[in-house]
Amino acid sequence: MNIDILLGLQWGDEGKGKIVDAICPDYDIIARFQGGPNAGHSLEFNNKKHVLHLIPSGIFHENKLNLIGNGVVIDPSVFKTEIEELGPSTDELIKRLVISTRANLILPTHRILDSAYECQKGMTKIGSTLKGIGPAYTDKASRNGMRAGDILRNDFMEKYNSLKERHLSILKNYDMKSDPSKYEAAWFEGIELMKKFRIVNTEYLINELSLKGKKVLAEGAQGTLLDIDFGSYPYVTSSNTISAGACTGLGISPKRIGEIFGIFKAYCTRVGTGPFPTELINTTGDTLREIGHEFGSTTGRPRRCGWLDLPALKYSIMVNGVTRLFMTKADVLSGFKTVKVCTSYKVDGKECIEIPYMIDAIIEPVYTELEGWNENISGIRNYQGLPVSLKRFIDFIEKETRVPVTRVSVGADREETIIR
Ligand code: GDP
Ligand code: IMO
Ligand code: MG
Repeated sequence: MNIDILLGLQWGDEGKGKIVDAICPDYDIIARFQGGPNAGHSLEFNNKKHVLHLIPSGIFHENKLNLIGNGVVIDPSVFKTEIEELGPSTDELIKRLVISTRANLILPTHRILDSAYECQKGMTKIGSTLKGIGPAYTDKASRNGMRAGDILRNDFMEKYNSLKERHLSILKNYDMKSDPSKYEAAWFEGIELMKKFRIVNTEYLINELSLKGKKVLAEGAQGTLLDIDFGSYPYVTSSNTISAGACTGLGISPKRIGEIFGIFKAYCTRVGTGPFPTELINTTGDTLREIGHEFGSTTGRPRRCGWLDLPALKYSIMVNGVTRLFMTKADVLSGFKTVKVCTSYKVDGKECIEIPYMIDAIIEPVYTELEGWNENISGIRNYQGLPVSLKRFIDFIEKETRVPVTRVSVGADREETIIR
């Protein structure tokens, strides 16, 4: 049971990157299991911020193996930019990173298709990051995709051209400029760079290392409420973001899973379209965005902000089997006289604790109001030192969810974390 999972319990951007980086010293292998460059995982240390899209968040630690699993979709051009901007030399990164032969590739035409599908949706668009995620997973499921292992084969160009042509013929039905050539040079440069890395059957590697006692941390992307099955469909991403996704996205048995760490912000944010029961479209929401710097790490879009939603959090805890909760951004709530927590919903006038299946249901949050805290808490490093009203806020969450909150993040830096 030496494989732990860390994942987001809300709509993404809970602070996964920061926490993975902070707990990395406890692990030997950090493995991304789903999603692709739609993710933006921020890490801060030595007064510098780094944003990772495809590369696991253990990459800055020496002697750790980072693994891009079969469940991830890789855009080689994003891969290249990211490798070049990371800091450590490519030779050093080659030692630290390994890629699954089975990870599907995002082609330049997948990105164009993503835009075409979004444009066609008009008012009902998803608010995709337009990184080609949906079309790449569509090709995977329809058995047309290309995989990382293909780049080492002689028929690679044949496969590429055939899939590209297939996409171009679909695009003829859309009113969309479809010239992939402007993306292709960078894409093929990315392919050449990927060839320098180890592209192996990572399901063997991860199982062998884990059986030898190496500790694995599976790093999720996005959040539970964006899961293709359990999120607010169709306003979701195209992969399983939940703990089960770590098994299919890495090739590991559920029997090998130990802890399931669920990360949540002390409030909620969402980028893109879709239901958000506790959203604050008012000055309180603006204040949360401003103090929390709530702008997308991948697209720069302003994040929608709202109060903590407990029915949604409990749902996420349930579908993931969360064993420990990590709360981030408690510092952002400092200065509010009171803070609200949604404890149930009124759906079409009736009290309800379940997230409705229908996304067009009219959900009215029912709030409990708790006393706020005023102190700047970013310098606090032990739990006892936190303001009494913040500890009451945490007690309230634990009582409601029945899961212990064992880490509290009080700032963006690696060091700004309290272990309880
Ligand atoms: P991820 O996608 O879950 O890794 O989260 P993002 O990196 O997209 O967004 C989280 C943002 O909050 C980043 O800018 C982090 O640097 C920042 N952050 C993480 N934890 C904390 C915290 O406890 N307090 C504050 N103020 N910022 C945090
Ligand atoms: P991390 O890993 C927040 C959202 C998009 C959009 C929907 C579908 O940083 O938490 P897609 O590009 O997958 O077609 O977009 O999902 N989305 C995210 N929101 N954080 C993310 O990743 C996200 N990845 C996708 O905004 O609403
Ligand atoms: Mg993010």
